[in-house]
Amino acid sequence: MTKITYIENNEKNYTIEVANGLSVMEGAIQNNVPGIDADCGGSMACATCHVYVKEEWFNKLPKKEDGEEDMLDMAYEPNKFSRLSCQLIVSDELDGLTVKLPIKQA
Ligand code: FES
Repeated sequence: MTKITYIENNEKNYTIEVANGLSVMEGAIQNNVPGIDADCGGSMACATCHVYVKEEWFNKLPKKEDGEEDMLDMAYEPNKFSRLSCQLIVSDELDGLTVKLPIKQA
């Protein structure tokens, strides 16, 4: 289990133990974290799982695939720390990962 912290736009935060192998998106959905809708179920086709990764974590994550970059272009207010949480697979290396949720999902 790996600790992931999700911070809502109003700064309310949730630190959750997520099983390795799940995505950061699935960890949010299974624990009723608001703000991640995941309309496409993780197939990189909706951008409603968009999160802002804390700067200190951003470069520790696997690089984005082209498809993720394209989908992030359609997300609500993406920035240079944006990722699709369905593409972030939880592992021991991500213990302590912190992501911030957009003010709204598209
Ligand atoms: S859940 Fe749809 S792109 Fe991530």
